[in-house]
Amino acid sequence: MRQPTIIAPSILSANFARLGDDVAKVVTAGADWIHFDVMDNHYVPNLTFGPMVCEALRPFAGAAMMDVHLMVEPVDALVPLFAKARAGLISFHPEASRHVDRTLALIREQGCKTGLVFNPATPLQWLDSVMDKLDLVMLMSVNPGFGGQSFIASTLPKLREARRRIDAYARETGRTIRLEVDGGVKTDNIAAIAAAGADTFVAGSAVFGSPNWGSTITALRNAADSATA
Ligand code: DX5
Ligand code: ZN
Repeated sequence: MRQPTIIAPSILSANFARLGDDVAKVVTAGADWIHFDVMDNHYVPNLTFGPMVCEALRPFAGAAMMDVHLMVEPVDALVPLFAKARAGLISFHPEASRHVDRTLALIREQGCKTGLVFNPATPLQWLDSVMDKLDLVMLMSVNPGFGGQSFIASTLPKLREARRRIDAYARETGRTIRLEVDGGVKTDNIAAIAAAGADTFVAGSAVFGSPNWGSTITALRNAADSATA
């Protein structure tokens, strides 16, 4: 019940002095979504960009969806601002919201798809009561805050468990939820990550640090697809 592969380059590893050009270029290179990492120097020890930058970049993304990953605390005040900036999906960390169910409902009310993000040490039990409000589950395979870190191996069994839960839910309800992985995804480990159940892949340094973004995105997609064919 895995969904078609989505490759979502994280512009955290793009050139911040020419973000619009890099977004347009990576979409031409085959990006399905643009992964937009919002950091607040509070929930995570780093600071990036907010809704105004998302809005400014939206025209450069063409048909690619803005996949907004909020690493901020608190969450709710930013949701309407990102919806107005034409985010397609907004994901957040459950530890950063006092009322997870309410935040998910708010994202939907604002017309965006929802995502819940699990740090390496965050248990999947947060899923128990909110599956009906989710469009995407995202597992962090690094601790959030920085690009270019190494993939944490314990994410693989956790992906298998998340896939099991998502498939059981789909069998019960007919509703599909995407399973995204974020951190340290490369051409040489994406096959194992896909085989563990992920269908949506964030790749920052792997894409933007490579000489040819198009051939890297193709290599990522082919490896993910052949691992699950
Ligand atoms: C980390 C971010 C990731 C990161 C991924 O906090 O959420 O999206 O940019 O970067 P790479 O692919 O370089 O690990
Ligand atoms: Zn991210």
